[in-house]
Order: sequence, then C-alpha cells, then structure tokens
Amino acid sequence: MVRYLSGGESHGPCLTAIIEGLPAGLFLRLADINKHLERRQKGYGRGGRMAIEKDRVKVLSGLRFNKTIGSPLTLQIENRDWENWQELMAAEGAAPEDLVRLTRPRPGHADLAGGLKYNHDDLRLVLERSSARETAIRVAVGSVGRILLEKFKVKVYSHVLSIGPIKTGVETYNIPELADKIEASPLRCADDDAEKKMISAIEEARKNGDTLGGVIEIFVTGLPPGLGSHVQWDRRLDGRLTGALMSIQGFKGAEIGLGFQSAAEPGSKVHDPLQMESESGSITRGSNRAGGLEGGISNGQPLVMRAAMKPIPTMSQPMASIDWVSGEEVKGATERSDICAVPAAAVVAEAVAAWELASAFREKFAGDYMGEVEASYNYYMDQVRKRLHTDS
Ligand SMILES: Cc1cc2nc3c(=O)[nH]c(=O)nc-3n(C[C@H](O)[C@H](O)[C@H](O)COP(=O)(O)O)c2cc1C
Repeated sequence: MVRYLSGGESHGPCLTAIIEGLPAGLFLRLADINKHLERRQKGYGRGGRMAIEKDRVKVLSGLRFNKTIGSPLTLQIENRDWENWQELMAAEGAAPEDLVRLTRPRPGHADLAGGLKYNHDDLRLVLERSSARETAIRVAVGSVGRILLEKFKVKVYSHVLSIGPIKTGVETYNIPELADKIEASPLRCADDDAEKKMISAIEEARKNGDTLGGVIEIFVTGLPPGLGSHVQWDRRLDGRLTGALMSIQGFKGAEIGLGFQSAAEPGSKVHDPLQMESESGSITRGSNRAGGLEGGISNGQPLVMRAAMKPIPTMSQPMASIDWVSGEEVKGATERSDICAVPAAAVVAEAVAAWELASAFREKFAGDYMGEVEASYNYYMDQVRKRLHTDS
C-alpha cells in the first residue's frame, strides 16, 4: 500500500509530505517534480502570491543517489512568503498585541464552518490550511506517482475545456498530439480563438471585481486493464479518482467518460461494444464512452475525466458577510487572490489523478523493489495479451 500525509500552513515555513510504500530503486530526479510545480504556478488570471513563490521541492529522506531506498520519502516545499509572516504565524510565544484577527468569514470559503468546528476566534487559523497553497505539495506527491507510472508508459495529460461560458473546440483524443501547444498556452487551451475569448472574459471579470471558474479534462494513456476492483466499494477506481478530483479546493463536479450526458442517452448510445479486429484478430472496441473504467476497474482504454471548478470565492468586490465577533454587517475579508485558477487547477488535477492511479498500480503490482514490480507487471501483461488475443 502506498500512502501519504501532508502538513503545512499557507503562510507557515513550509509544506511537507511523507510518502510511504514506494518500491526501492525507483529513479527519481527533483527536476522531474519541480517542472510540475512550475506548471502549477502558471496560468492567465493568477494573483500576486504566485509572483512571490518559486516552488522547489527538497527531499529530506528516502532517496539516495536519485533512487528511492524503500523508506518513507519526505518532501518539503518552502514558503517564501513565510519571511513576511514569521511573527504572525510563530509556532511559539504570545500573539503580538496588535494582532488583527480575521473575523469576517468569506462566503465560499471554509472560514465560517471551520471556525465553528474548531472553535477558533481567529478565522486565519482555518484559512491557513484550507487555502489552495496546499495543492503545491499535492502536485509534488502526485509527480512522484507520475514518475512511477511513466516507467510503465502511462502518460497523464490535461487541458482546459472551458472558462466561464467560453468553450474550446479541442477534441479529447487530440490532446496528446496537442500537448506542446496546450503547455505553451497560458490557458492550457489549444484552440487559439477560444483562448483569446477566455483571456477577454478573465479581463472583464477582473475589471468587475469578479472571478471565473471552468471545466478541465484529464486524459490518461497507457493504463493497464485491472487497476481498482469491483469487489469492494472503496476499491472502485471510479470513486477513488472522482473523490480525489472533488477534494481539490474549488472543485464542484467530476465525471468519467460520458458522465452526466450518459443519463440522457439510451443504453445503445452509452456502452462500448466489443469487436474482433479483423487485421490483428484481437479483441477491441470502436468507442470509449465509458472513459476507460467499467465496474470500478480500468479496462485498458484511455481514461477520460472532466471536473468543474467554481469561480474563485475571494473577490475584489467582496460579498456580504457578518463580523462574527461584533455581529455587524460587513463585506467578506479580501486576501490577495486569483481571478481564475482553472489552468493551474488542471495541473493539480493531473497530480491527484496520477497519485490515485499510482496507488492502484502499487496494489496490483506489489513488490518491495522495482525489479519485483516490473516482473509482476510483465507477467500480468503477458496474460492480458493472451486473453485479448493481441499476441497471436
Ligand atoms: C490552484 C488553485 C488556486 C486557488 N486560488 C484561490 C485564490 O487565489 N483565492 C481564493 O479565494 N480561492 C482560491 N482557490 C479556491 C479555494 O481554495 C476554495 O474555493 C476554498 O478553499 C473553498 O473550498 P471549496 O470551494 O472546495 O468548498 C484556488 C483553488 C485552486 C485549486
């Protein structure tokens, strides 16, 4: 079993994660994690925080000479902004006398619910951990999962399907060949016309003190069939993947394959018939409406998922709130904030999906060192090829 826990406040000294259960001998370079941290920091519509932070991962344990050693892998990302918050976020000592407490809950944030739950008088204590700053360490962890998957030719892609009402015309199956263009786009959108309109929409929102959300799409190729399981609810990979996507700050919907659309179509237009390919004589399908998962198990087809992100809740024209100490009608607190973080959220979504897939991969292909994992994978894939007649 592979697992991790993370800790760290948005304006604390650092974010940390401890990963346990990686096989020994996995080749890992910090540069291969850092490149995804950089990707998370990009995107049109980001706020001032991203200009301060330059996220880089440090490894504190579990790695020697670029190879995992089987012990817990400890990752750390420093918060550069800590410099400005050392007094306000000090772990020890008394609160400064002039400390300004956050008492105006921001609608759309965890502020009020978290303040009630933990009985805080300063809502900053909620904000600090509920903030999407935490997604930096999730991207680092997901990148480790991704490095493992890449050894077995699994590739994870993402792009932005829409920002507010503006939709791209890019087809899901073209994502891999458009990957460079998507990467170069500030909106992670390979449709030039839509990209221009998205930029205008973000500028319009900025002008109005407003914010925008959108929909992202994840596309994964090279997955072996058999990850996840139908035998127990919490082993179903569809639930695990959509649960992981829904756990990203601001995400309000997730679907696989045809998703919500499948509810409106007859069965004949929703399922993917099996066929015998005449040339190769192997079992295939002409469609992938299921999006790569059936019965909670990967079926060997590309994985297609979409997720919806709501507009950023902190707005420069804040919503009505109540100061929960004085009971006064006020405006919600404002923090330095993004106008639109959908492109960055797509990178986070790649990472959480990669982590869930890597975790299911480890359950299927256990082993304490890479050679053992590879042998298990190769043995199984031989059986799969026989069953599907792809080796004849
Ligand atoms: C990459 C990313 C960046 C975000 N940036 C901001 C931001 O700058 N300001 C903000 O108010 N919310 C931001 N959010 C969203 C909030 O963190 C989120 O809406 C809030 O924590 C409440 O959680 P919920 O929307 O999941 O209920 C961001 C989310 C992501 C994934």
